[in-house]
Amino acid sequence: MSKLWGGRFTKKTDQLVEEYTASILFDKELAEEDIQGSLAHVTMLGKCGILSADDVDKIKDGLHHVQGMIRRGELEYNVSDEDIHMNIEKALIDEVGPVGGKLHTGRSRNDQVATDMHLWLRKRVVEFVGLLAKLQEALIGQAKNNLDTIVPGYTHLQRAQPILFAHHLMAYVAMFQRDIERLQDSYKRINVLPLGAGALAGTTFPIDRHFVAEQLGFDGVYENSLDAVSDRDFIVEFLANASLIMTHLSRLSEEFVLWSSTEFHFIELDDAFCTGSSIMPQKKNPDVAELVRGKTGRVYGNLIGLLTVLKSLPLAYNKDMQEDKEGMFDTVRTLQGALQLYAPMVATMKVNKDRMRQAVNQDFSNATDIADYLVNKGLPFRQAHEVIGKTVLYCIQNGKFLLDLKLEEFHQFSKLFDKDIYEVLQPEHVVDARNVYGGTAAPQVAAAIDRAEAKLQETNGWFEEYFEKSR
Ligand code: ARG
Repeated sequence: MSKLWGGRFTKKTDQLVEEYTASILFDKELAEEDIQGSLAHVTMLGKCGILSADDVDKIKDGLHHVQGMIRRGELEYNVSDEDIHMNIEKALIDEVGPVGGKLHTGRSRNDQVATDMHLWLRKRVVEFVGLLAKLQEALIGQAKNNLDTIVPGYTHLQRAQPILFAHHLMAYVAMFQRDIERLQDSYKRINVLPLGAGALAGTTFPIDRHFVAEQLGFDGVYENSLDAVSDRDFIVEFLANASLIMTHLSRLSEEFVLWSSTEFHFIELDDAFCTGSSIMPQKKNPDVAELVRGKTGRVYGNLIGLLTVLKSLPLAYNKDMQEDKEGMFDTVRTLQGALQLYAPMVATMKVNKDRMRQAVNQDFSNATDIADYLVNKGLPFRQAHEVIGKTVLYCIQNGKFLLDLKLEEFHQFSKLFDKDIYEVLQPEHVVDARNVYGGTAAPQVAAAIDRAEAKLQETNGWFEEYFEKSR
């Protein structure tokens, strides 16, 4: 059979044009959703009396047959049929004969492709909420095991103040919580039906868009037919959300890479999540963390790519919009890969508590606390800061840490120092002194873990409910 749109043409399409404009090599990913959408559409055509019950049955049987062929990998896709929509329609007509040509009544590929993308993306967004919850669970598990592990906290990658390692990990749980909530919120903008917009203006047939929406589990229909076929905001929004998730994963990756270096030696990633060197036998490289950090680039690229495609497009559909797909598929694959690996990699990571403790003992991250100590004895903070600055300099020049100083040495800098300074300088004391909501004191971190676990339960409930709804 010739092209589905061949009537207007007198010449064959140039072979290179066919290859250049076809999307079947990548949009075959939408096959399931295309059939799902067509089944709902044809059911509606029957219900509205636009097609006879008999035609509807034949078309539905044919669509199920084509679906089976696709699932078994038996359908041969043709570049000359351009995209998944026309490949499926062609296969349908091959199967049921000319009646198959009635499926496209009251519909355009423009509202069809948009519908497929909405159906496809909503499933993936729900899956990502589930994957993020798994990662949070792994992080919370490690946090619970490290409620007594003290580690230097950094600013400017310089040791700043000691914190609980659990507190550090829970910062990532908070980031991923925002990511989860962003995805959940985006669902309501994805879950809107474009079908029924036709090519751009609606259709002359007495269709029922709300009935189609109901069958497909959409919460509503697009208000404006031009917007329905031109809108790719929901994909941009997903790519932006994915970019932020990758930002968070990349920051964590950077920390893993640093922490597993000999210089830090704070953690050891499990052998199953590292690789070796082909020349240096001693090497164990944190490749997964590095690759996640590296792949963040392509995810950002896909976001900028689509924004750029859309920025000057006149309404309504333009062929440029076919460029919305590969970036979205690539981002979904990239994010899936990263999240699937990260949860078990975090869960199996070994934490070198002793090494972390040793690092804390050999730094000046308790300096703020002696400044606060002097403030509590009546010295204005600025003066206290100056005094401790001089004390630290003295330590550095004499190869000592604050806890090594004798009381007489402290007295060179201020007479306000007393014996209790040695208690104040203990890392445990320093950590527990930050007993403010959201701070690093052990009871605060334990409370934060409780709150995070309650949210995790909520997320798991949401996931179960929407997993069904989104299929
Ligand atoms: N393959 C096309 C795309 O992905 C489907 C829509 C084609 N519409 C059209 N009027 N040529 O964008």
